[in-house]
Amino acid sequence: MSASPSSRHRSTIVTKLRAAGCVFAEDEAQLLLSATRTPTDLAAMVDRRAAGHPLEHVLGWAEFCGLRVAVDSGVFVPRRRTEFLARLAADPEGNAVTRSRTVVVDLCCGSGAVGAALIATLDRVELYAVDIDSAAVRCARRNVAAAGAHVYEGDLYQPLPATLRGRVDVLVANAPYVPTEAIGMMPPEARIHEPRMALDGGGDGLEVQRRVIDEAPLWLSPGGHLLVETSERQAPDLVETFDRNGLTSRVASSEELDATVVIGTKAVIQSGTDI
Ligand SMILES: C[S@@+](CC[C@H](N)C(=O)[O-])C[C@H]1O[C@@H](n2cnc3c(N)ncnc32)[C@H](O)[C@@H]1O
Repeated sequence: MSASPSSRHRSTIVTKLRAAGCVFAEDEAQLLLSATRTPTDLAAMVDRRAAGHPLEHVLGWAEFCGLRVAVDSGVFVPRRRTEFLARLAADPEGNAVTRSRTVVVDLCCGSGAVGAALIATLDRVELYAVDIDSAAVRCARRNVAAAGAHVYEGDLYQPLPATLRGRVDVLVANAPYVPTEAIGMMPPEARIHEPRMALDGGGDGLEVQRRVIDEAPLWLSPGGHLLVETSERQAPDLVETFDRNGLTSRVASSEELDATVVIGTKAVIQSGTDI
């Protein structure tokens, strides 16, 4: 149901959003109108958006890989560019081979958007997701628990069951990778309304990612893949870390989505030989 206001009312909303700096004021007005049941709700949502809250927090959802993913206030809003990570994670070898069952770990899962996209894409997924932030964990559970996924709260691999060691086919991580000193230059929507721990990757931005890569070989199955979202500038340093951990790596990029992902593969040992 929508608030069905007059076109004059609609244009008042557009004007208010535009004055607040919303570039896509028309589209946003339409989304807010279709999301609200009463004029009071609508006014409150428009006020929040005009005050600078991310549209997705105001609506309570984000579009990701064609899905509506629930995103609570205070939880990182999944970005369009991360659709590239999800797409690669669904087919890391690029040969569309279908597995009977894929064991997936989504580290630093936030809202659980990447895992939700993999559940929607792959035939049979056994998904384990982890985040250190309890708000993100609650949100991810809303998005993936219905599919039988397990969502844990804790630091990277620490809460995962030990039985997963050596069994993970796809390990995916969009961990924080903004260098600490660059956070002040981020748009206010991120800087003010997303948690610092979702953005801050330490001095060079790679502190959390290095920890992800260093421990990955213990959890990956032979031939399993680790996929880490990064920036074009940071990718060479990450590749070095993949190499140091014995993972064969390559860098994939999408100009369209301004996205960069490093993909590493654990060797398959056969008759004492690495192939
Ligand atoms: C950039 S956000 C990405 C969220 C989600 N993967 C996505 O793409 O929408 C990074 C997430 O990592 C989580 N995080 C940061 N440090 C962590 C840690 N040490 N262990 C687990 N999660 C962590 C944050 O709480 C945040 O939800």
